[in-house]
Amino acid sequence: MTEQTKPITVLAVGAINEHVLKRLKSEFACVEIPAGNPSLLTPESAGQVRGLSTMTTQVPAALIDALPNLEVIANFGVGYDAVDARHAGAKGVMVTNTPDVLTEEVADTAIGILINAVRQLPAAENYLRAGRWAKEGPFPLTPLTLRGRKAGIFGMGRIGLAIARRLEAFGLPVAYHNRNPVAGVGYEYHETLTGLAEAVDTLISVAPGTASTAKAVNAEVLRALGSNGVFVNIGRGSTVDEAALAAALANGTIAAAGLDVFADEPRVSQALLDAPNASLVPHVGSASVHTRLAMADLCVDNLVSWFTRHRAITPVPETAHVAARKG
Ligand code: DGY
Repeated sequence: MTEQTKPITVLAVGAINEHVLKRLKSEFACVEIPAGNPSLLTPESAGQVRGLSTMTTQVPAALIDALPNLEVIANFGVGYDAVDARHAGAKGVMVTNTPDVLTEEVADTAIGILINAVRQLPAAENYLRAGRWAKEGPFPLTPLTLRGRKAGIFGMGRIGLAIARRLEAFGLPVAYHNRNPVAGVGYEYHETLTGLAEAVDTLISVAPGTASTAKAVNAEVLRALGSNGVFVNIGRGSTVDEAALAAALANGTIAAAGLDVFADEPRVSQALLDAPNASLVPHVGSASVHTRLAMADLCVDNLVSWFTRHRAITPVPETAHVAARKG
């Protein structure tokens, strides 16, 4: 707790990481609401709020508009699609996220689900635990392998680069698609996602959930990936047409998928649950105690820095221009 921040009111919206909440309560006057709905606040308490923190709960324009003295929104997570950052930027409200501290963890998870999908390790473990090894003999050879594959990364940011480094160490050539080539990145660039999918057999999406990436991985992209294709999603579920993906898995358009993120979390479509060639995990990309603690600290440190040093540590691009208010 600092003398400067204790009188400042910060709103904690929805389910919040335990360490974030503990620090918010010690550093600030913390008010909790279960959802990003302005009607949950009285006009008086809304007027007191100067900072806000959210994990995955939506912070819509209506909530930002209902908080006349709001200066900063600290998002727990590198992806900040839950926050209307464009609206915040237009209203002079800073938005921060938690990059860097989770990069290596998420890249590790991406490789894990890729190998799960290709080599069927979850199914092999279930086979052993069910006593089938002793009764029926060895687990069947996997039709798929990482050997000889070429990987394509959709979204070559910090996490994409960390995944690319790992893939290189595994001996796989790497290509990528972004809106524009990334300066200083030597991997083969493709101007379109379909062009990338055609050139590779292993597509890894690390793309953020924005209007321009919505359902970008569609039937055409999956067709281009081909019948030996493996699709991995560690970015956001909204970037995939899940019905098209489930159909592609069922009819052999692609061979397998490894998914950490889904369009309607925590609900997962029955068609994906029914796909034996999909390895599914519940959005655990950054979910170790070590990394979540670092994310929690960065989330709260952004608020403390804003109110004590008048600058955000990790502003998102939409609000990079926002300056701290005087007085
Ligand atoms: C994030 O921080 O956006 C990741 O999805 C967490 O796993």
